[in-house]
Amino acid sequence: MTISLSDSDITDLEISTVLNVLKSKRLALGPYLEKFQQSIKEFTKVKYALAVNSGTSALHLILKSLNFQKDQKMLVSPFSFISSANVALFEGGIPVFIDIDPQTYNISPQKLKEFIDKSYQKDITTFMGVDIFGIPSPWDEIYSILPQEINIIEDSCEALGGEYKNKKLGTFGKAGTFAFYPNKQITTGEGGIIVTDNEEIFDLCKSMSNQGRGKSGEWLISERLGYNYRMDEMSAALGFAQMQRIDEISKKRKEKAQRYFELFKNDNRIVLPNVPSVVTSQSWFVFVLRLDLGWLSNFLNIPNWVKNFELPTKFETQKSKEEWSKIIKQLRNTLQNLIKKLNQKGIESKNYFYPIHLQPFYMKMFGYTPGDYPVTELVSSMTFAIPFFSNITQEEQKDVYNAIDKSLKEIKNETAF
Ligand SMILES: Cc1ncc(COP(=O)(O)O)c(C=O)c1O
Repeated sequence: MTISLSDSDITDLEISTVLNVLKSKRLALGPYLEKFQQSIKEFTKVKYALAVNSGTSALHLILKSLNFQKDQKMLVSPFSFISSANVALFEGGIPVFIDIDPQTYNISPQKLKEFIDKSYQKDITTFMGVDIFGIPSPWDEIYSILPQEINIIEDSCEALGGEYKNKKLGTFGKAGTFAFYPNKQITTGEGGIIVTDNEEIFDLCKSMSNQGRGKSGEWLISERLGYNYRMDEMSAALGFAQMQRIDEISKKRKEKAQRYFELFKNDNRIVLPNVPSVVTSQSWFVFVLRLDLGWLSNFLNIPNWVKNFELPTKFETQKSKEEWSKIIKQLRNTLQNLIKKLNQKGIESKNYFYPIHLQPFYMKMFGYTPGDYPVTELVSSMTFAIPFFSNITQEEQKDVYNAIDKSLKEIKNETAF
């Protein structure tokens, strides 16, 4: 038996709600789309919500609604799901990466400030703040650092229900997004949603999600270039039913996260997720552990400056890049070995996330090389998601712990200097 990385939480309520749609034969643009949007609006306390067919579509529409154009630049974290950056490419724009904070795995305020002080130019029109793994971006710092002309948008695809100083995530930019793939807090199968208080953004996104149709509702008349990014009625019904249970689902996920915190609390081989004090409610998307560098250096050759995260902004020379690559490679090999061992023991695990700038086509397109964003590369070489979903049992969580414990002991015994 395998314990999977994620699982959706579907009850008879979801099944009967989706069946209602099938029986009604109104399979698109029906009452559940409205109900789902309304439920998200009330939950996040925003004026407008527009459901679409994916989180990526949601981000893309927001950029377009803000008139993001060819050759413009968008600041974003390289430690995210790839579509956070890709949406800039969709428009011929350029994602510009700012390295992360080694504790929260979100964009580093210090690095952001250094970048703005040194390199700010008018072609940087947009900032995409990602709330990675449901942990909020450092919103206060971001607002104090960025020039006012920059459009701030929030990729809160992983953060439904999270709160930063009692304010819901998704509401920190001109518009925000949630995604509903089945590994997310709630699912619609495939799907996403835009939340905003800005009527103009909402109207433009609505039109562009629906082939550019205008407010008149004329079906075969388009006022602008648009897409078919609409959410279908079965997905909306599923989402609406899930939203009826959002408090129950969030509570279960918090309990499961707490259980992992207890299981790993005295384990010096593992670094647990860091929830900053500004978080008034944590929304758990995935549970990501990191191998501890101190522990790894018992059997890997890791210099102290790496152990202490005393990293340069960027490795510039060929020689330093090569040395850095060697260090990262041995860490990555160890991580891959661990993930393989876990999979062999029936525990699904994945490396979350692989640096966006080192994705093969980003390297080809922009000439990125290892050493360009050292904190992201170092963190990514040690982080792995473990099975996490609202109905994971205590026994399964204990099995996950035992498998990690055993695999780490094996790795230590097998690996010598
Ligand atoms: C941070 C982040 N942004 C964007 C997305 C895109 O969502 P989707 O897969 O629904 O397109 C995801 C989905 O996993 C995500 O985690």
